[in-house]
Formats: sequence, C-alpha cells, structure tokens
Amino acid sequence: ADTDDLAAALLAWYDRHARDLPWRAGPGAPPPDPYRVWLSEVMLQQTTVAAVKGYFAAFITRWPRVEDLAAASPDEVMAAWAGLGYYARARNLHACAQAVAAQGGRFPGTEAELRALPGLGAYTAAAVAAIAFGERAVVVDANVERVVARLNAIAEPLPAARPAIRAAADRITPALRAGDFAQAMMDLGATVCTSRNPRCLLCPLAAWCAARAHGAPERFPVKPPR
Ligand code: ADE
Repeated sequence: ADTDDLAAALLAWYDRHARDLPWRAGPGAPPPDPYRVWLSEVMLQQTTVAAVKGYFAAFITRWPRVEDLAAASPDEVMAAWAGLGYYARARNLHACAQAVAAQGGRFPGTEAELRALPGLGAYTAAAVAAIAFGERAVVVDANVERVVARLNAIAEPLPAARPAIRAAADRITPALRAGDFAQAMMDLGATVCTSRNPRCLLCPLAAWCAARAHGAPERFPVKPPR
C-alpha cells in the first residue's frame, strides 16, 4: 500500500544518505550494541549530534561496557558529562547503568521493559527498542515531529497536535527495519526537512507530502500562539 511505499522510499534514501555516526552500525551490519545505542540516545536528547560525538567517544573509551559505567563513581560520571548540560541526565544515566549491571549487564529487549529502567523516558525506550532490538516501536523526537506534521499538513498547533503526530508516525512505521526507519526520519529532519529551509527537491518523501502540496512546508508544525 501507499504507506509501505513511503517507508520503502525513505529506507532506500537512508541506505544512500545515512549520516555516518559513531553509534551506528554500518549498512547491512547486525544491530548495534544496546549500550551504545542507549548512551547515544540519552546524550542526544537535548544536545546536537556535533556536540555529542566527542563525549560519546570519550565515554565508550573510558567505560566500554555498561558494567564499567555502573562501577564508576557518581563524581567521575558527572565530571565526564560536564559540558553536555541537563545534569539530571547524567545522574539518571548512572542509575540506569547500575540497574542494568545488577540484571547481569544485559539491556531488556522490549520497549515496555526498557521504559521501567531509571530515567528511560518514552522517547529513549522506543529508540533503543527499535534501533538495538528491531522492535516496531514508534520513535518521535522533534525532527520526526516536524517531518510527520508536514507529511500530513497537521494544522493544529503544538503541543495539541502531538497525539495526531504520534498516530500518523505509527501509521507509517514499517514492521521491518523500524530502527533504520526512525533514524532515517531523524536524518531527513536534520538534513533535508529542516525547520527554516526545507529542501523539498532532495526529499524522498516529497510525493507524499501534504505541506509541500500546499506550497508552504515551513509553516508546519504550527507553533503555539504566543
Ligand atoms: N537524534 C537522536 N537520536 C538520533 C539518531 N539515532 N540518529 C540521528 N539523530 C538522532
């Protein structure tokens, strides 16, 4: 059907244009280590990809496994985190590492179980389930929100539009390669479907995009009145 074609078009674009990021396995490689996926997704929550790269490399070098991070002192983790901001994330990161280490060092493999770990919010649980475990989880961050709001020309302003955006993201998420699909949506939002100057001529989803058909993709998502 039409949504299968959309996912296929996006995945084909991702196979050619995925950003080469240190926490990703290469094209065709087995799924990446859940520890690396989790660590990168926590770091990426309020911080740009460019800023995260160096911190991610430093953490992995110093604490190659989740048990190593769990065994660090809170002060060491906090000092290594310095500069990333939102320090509650570092405290939660350490608590989560300790919980996983206490369970034998293996991350649970489903979105629901991941959600029960300390500090793992809806976004991170969905991202790790999809990217590291291949679960068909619906992953929605700000980039995905923008892409989906445009595809559907959702006229309702944020944040009221969120349930409709999530439902629309759910409809287009494929059963297979859900992790690649989520990361493709994020890359598309970061590099093509950008907030100010969407590059629709380069967009693999242009044929499906209602906002583009309206002629004003940059108007979506609609900002709350202020
Ligand atoms: N932003 C948050 N997680 C990401 C990921 N896995 N790939 C690209 N951008 C992201």
